[in-house]
Amino acid sequence: MSGEPILQVSELCKSFGNLAALNRVSFHIAPGEILGLIGPNGAGKTTLFNTISGLYHPDGGQVAFKGQSIGGLSPHAICKLGMSRTFQVTQAFEHLSVAEAIRIGAYNRHGERGVEAKVRETVAFFGLEKIQDWKCSDLGLAPLKRVEVARAAATDPELLLLDEAGAGLNASELAELMEMLKTLRRKRDMTLCVVEHVMPMVMGLCERIIVLDYGELIAEGTPEMISKNEKVIEAYLGRRSKR
Ligand SMILES: Nc1ncnc2c1ncn2[C@@H]1O[C@H](COP(=O)(O)OP(=O)(O)OP(=O)(O)O)[C@@H](O)[C@H]1O
Ligand SMILES: [Mg+2]
Repeated sequence: MSGEPILQVSELCKSFGNLAALNRVSFHIAPGEILGLIGPNGAGKTTLFNTISGLYHPDGGQVAFKGQSIGGLSPHAICKLGMSRTFQVTQAFEHLSVAEAIRIGAYNRHGERGVEAKVRETVAFFGLEKIQDWKCSDLGLAPLKRVEVARAAATDPELLLLDEAGAGLNASELAELMEMLKTLRRKRDMTLCVVEHVMPMVMGLCERIIVLDYGELIAEGTPEMISKNEKVIEAYLGRRSKR
């Protein structure tokens, strides 16, 4: 993929007290690519998404989206510019129906008139017709995860950040999700950044992977390069032996 980065992150820092959750993290996402972001538990992946998407204020560094600095903007303003994200723990929409949760996503980027059409289209795209009137609190994990991706996709983002959308899914649910994400990229021109522990999903979906460990970027490369990278293997095995 070529062209100016859709997202450029430079020297990004975020601390919680003495803990440097992100320490001078720099990377880019090219338009149209599917970038994987991996790292052991507590590496800073969700913090990175939270800081990029405006939920956290960075302590230092810059984030530029489509060439525009977005550091300090609200999540809502960033969403309006065309960036959306899913949440690792889906809880905000429990009291809503599936269609209502998706409608909230659609409202972020569509005028009153466009919303219903967007909801219908999104429900159909994600195969949620039969459960569109169900309460989110009544859904199992796999449909709930799908609704969360659908809600984020209903904002029509140019860049979609997915935080462990595949966690807890079985092999066929995972394969379906991967197909949907590939179709979003192909047919809707979405660029994707995928945080994932599920390696078959990372390896099957991503053209390039970056690796965080203790808030620092320790590797970047193709899935094949990353799977052989000594620092990456050490980060995963080292962390596991400390548990
Ligand atoms: N709001 C917060 N307040 C204090 N510490 C936090 C906060 N959010 C995250 N942390 C800490 O920052 C570090 C990075 O956490 P983060 O959730 O970003 O990791 P992660 O890579 O997403 O992990 P996982 O794979 O388990 O989801 C951890 O040590 C975590 O305990
Ligand atoms: Mg996380």
